[in-house]
Amino acid sequence: MSIYAHITGWGIAVPEKKLTNNDLMQMVETSDEWIVSRTGIHERRIAGANESTATLASKAALQALSNAGLSPVEVDLIIVASSTPEYIFPATACLVQDHIGATNAGAFDLSAACTGFIYALSMAASQIRTGAIKSALVIGSETLSRFVNWEDRETCILFGDGAGAFVLQASEAPGGVLTSALHSDGSGAKSLMLPAGGSRQPTTMETVRQGMHYIQMNGREIFRFATRVMAKATEKVVDQAGLKIEDVNLIIPHQANQRIIEAAARGLKLPTERFMVNLDHYGNTSTASIPLATYEAVEQGRLQPGDYIVLVGFGAGLTWGALLAQWSGPLSKTQRRVRHFGTLNRARALFRQVTRRIEGMIWGREEKEKPKSRK
Ligand code: UT7
Repeated sequence: MSIYAHITGWGIAVPEKKLTNNDLMQMVETSDEWIVSRTGIHERRIAGANESTATLASKAALQALSNAGLSPVEVDLIIVASSTPEYIFPATACLVQDHIGATNAGAFDLSAACTGFIYALSMAASQIRTGAIKSALVIGSETLSRFVNWEDRETCILFGDGAGAFVLQASEAPGGVLTSALHSDGSGAKSLMLPAGGSRQPTTMETVRQGMHYIQMNGREIFRFATRVMAKATEKVVDQAGLKIEDVNLIIPHQANQRIIEAAARGLKLPTERFMVNLDHYGNTSTASIPLATYEAVEQGRLQPGDYIVLVGFGAGLTWGALLAQWSGPLSKTQRRVRHFGTLNRARALFRQVTRRIEGMIWGREEKEKPKSRK
């Protein structure tokens, strides 16, 4: 008996604040014409003061759970793919777990830059297909605006904030995530990086002064690399699944640049209409871009149960990869609104914090007493 990992729920969260190309023209020397013709981007979303990678991720997760008709307590695993996690540690996934009340889930973050959502989906699907777990939440969430140098016109025009989430569930019915291909080439690490703040270059006055906590990118290099790998990775997963490119109903690429997507379409000899594109209004949201585009494809009626889709992406690392899935829709036809017990979850978290403090006081006293008794 085979177990399949179906995509049964999808949700998104985007900040309300929009930053248009005209707004950017007030900040750096650029023009709407340059940005649109070189990237296809018109506007992007920027997180507000009360929004963060974890809050956006939690919101997207709850919507995905609602669509799947699954309660947070039924989730076995949460993976958050992010290039801009809440902290170096703990994992953003743990904060999401606590916030949504997924009390039975394991949780970890995955770092594979803009390819992160594909990596995370592949990992979660493998766990389901081995029978180790029955359900998973896979989230891509970013607040890139907090790491962008707003004086660097080559990068600040590209990136935006947002989150997208998928629910994966086990079923014996064939379908869901069928195959994936994951790749990396660390020799290109310097092409796109955030140099300081890690163990290699801990934060100092000097790293801050030199702007080393901002995204640094060799745009041309990334562009060339992306146009090389997108079509190849897509062909690989189609081949692995025993299909032909014509069988694929929709390709959902990482939303980095309209010209990169057009190059991939040329490489695959497909019309661009077979690609889902929504970067014009969200920009490049890294790990969130593929689930954001998928959500919109569903909203536009471009995905029907049984359709074959390819998700394909590239990013820092360098990483790249593709994943082929057969679109399922919710397993249970009755969508149920998943109630979010925000107050209850906060009360539970507070109760656990107080319990830990009391435990600390009790154990701490015993620890202090021990050396005395040994004398
Ligand atoms: O998730 C992965 C994230 N990264 C990417 O996907 C980046 C991939 N790369 C790209 O999308 C493109 O390389 C960019 C959009 C970043 C740049 O487009 P390009 O066509 O490769 O431009 P370029 O780097 O060759 O620059 C052409 C000119 C340069 O001026 P000179 O040297 O020819 O005088 C730049 O200084 O355009 C200039 N330029 C700008 N001009 C107006 C660079 N950024 C801007 C700007 N506005 N924002």
